[in-house]
Amino acid sequence: MSPAAGIDPFLDPPFTAGIDDAVLAVVGLGYVGLPLAVALAASGRRVIGFDIDAARVGRIAAGRDDTGEVDGCGLSAALAAGFRPASDPDALAGAGVVIVCVPTPITGDRQPDLGPLLSACATIGPRLRPGSVVVFESTVYPGVTEDVCGPALAAASGLVVGRDLLLGYAPERINPGDRLHRLDTIVKVVAGQTPALADALARLYGALNGGQVHVTPSIRVAEAAKAIENAQRDINIAFVNEIALIFERIGLSVHDVLDAARTKWNFLDFKPGLVGGHCIGVDPYYLSHLSQVVGHEPDVILAGRRLNDHMADELADRIAFRFREVAPDVVRPRALILGLTFKEDVPDLRNSKVPQLAARLVRHGFTVDLHDPVADASDVALKLGLALVDVPADMGVPMFDLVVLAVGHRAFAGLTPDDVGRMVHPQGLIADPKGVWRHRAACFEQAYWSL
Ligand SMILES: NC(=O)c1ccc[n+]([C@@H]2O[C@H](COP(=O)([O-])OP(=O)(O)OC[C@H]3O[C@@H](n4cnc5c(N)ncnc54)[C@H](O)[C@@H]3O)[C@@H](O)[C@H]2O)c1
Repeated sequence: MSPAAGIDPFLDPPFTAGIDDAVLAVVGLGYVGLPLAVALAASGRRVIGFDIDAARVGRIAAGRDDTGEVDGCGLSAALAAGFRPASDPDALAGAGVVIVCVPTPITGDRQPDLGPLLSACATIGPRLRPGSVVVFESTVYPGVTEDVCGPALAAASGLVVGRDLLLGYAPERINPGDRLHRLDTIVKVVAGQTPALADALARLYGALNGGQVHVTPSIRVAEAAKAIENAQRDINIAFVNEIALIFERIGLSVHDVLDAARTKWNFLDFKPGLVGGHCIGVDPYYLSHLSQVVGHEPDVILAGRRLNDHMADELADRIAFRFREVAPDVVRPRALILGLTFKEDVPDLRNSKVPQLAARLVRHGFTVDLHDPVADASDVALKLGLALVDVPADMGVPMFDLVVLAVGHRAFAGLTPDDVGRMVHPQGLIADPKGVWRHRAACFEQAYWSL
């Protein structure tokens, strides 16, 4: 690996010699930052955590993680080992390596919103000292770390990047709710502005996952690798969503088709569904922004985005159409949507497409109730302005004409046809786009629809 342009590789020793013992700071204690801080503390490092959300910091300090990514036991052990969550930025002053895990959302017109990154740089900058290292984990397009964050840190600190201060990039790849692919099992991609810094970061992160580290030749390569991982996933899901919509029109189950197709060794196994959340539905816009800046129209990337962004409307339209076939005479039908979070078994509501699905069903004349045992009701009210309903195990008589299984939480996947039957009138419709209950479809008394 060669050093980044303009960086003198012989400046390394003052920086990297200290990394193995430095106090670490993690900035942004969300889905990415908190598990990282806890893992670093568990590996024996001294870790300061900083977040602007004082209430969240308070809960973390009390041993509670409302993302559900860190168990109480692991968090308590980290706190006992010296992990110090703080909402006072001055707590960052003692850190030699600062790892930034703040959000990278998009603006209303689907452009990268680098606001949280820039604000983090403004906070961190004055607390840096000569010899500091700042590593970014947030997902960005190639160039953001060195061309945007570097100058912002330099301006806020008065230090010179490449002389007093070095940058690294180590994209996070965790998948919320995924118990298999965890920090300690995922290969970590790392990059530093000099070879020695990259090596030091490889040691730092390798201590968390048995040394499974891939060092890239530059920070830009690592930024680009992360950006394409999520854009590729978005495009693949868009393809499967598209074929699902085609086959639905000819009464063919895409799930049956996929069961057959995935038996081929090189078939890519993706499932149709709503694409929400903070990553897959957002990160491709970082790549498309870069593409347009450099003069290439990113047709494939944006086509995937358009289709996935539109999928909730498509599903609502098809469910409403099928409902009218099944129950043409019901006036003001009542629908229950099961699941509101952006994916299965996580409480994360960010960019969930279920509100879009619900709104479209309302336009089709349904009254819509939402039920989600995984989501936090006060979070739903605060962030989405929506209310959740409780669904009693036995309603006496079924209250709904339509049930839509929007998010296949484990709690819903385990429902029996009798459980579902207690919610929906016998003349009603059970809509299960993801096919979670499809092997039980024959047992439903109600009509059943899936992709
Ligand atoms: N969630 C994921 O599964 C995932 C996976 C891989 C990569 N990423 C990327 O990691 C980054 C963080 O994502 P996340 O899901 O952890 O976000 P998050 O919203 O869960 O957490 C971010 C935290 O940063 C805090 N924050 C915001 N601005 C801040 C600032 N200026 N200073 C200090 N703290 C600040 C917020 O209060 C919040 O607690 C994003 O770039 C995301 O794309 C996320």
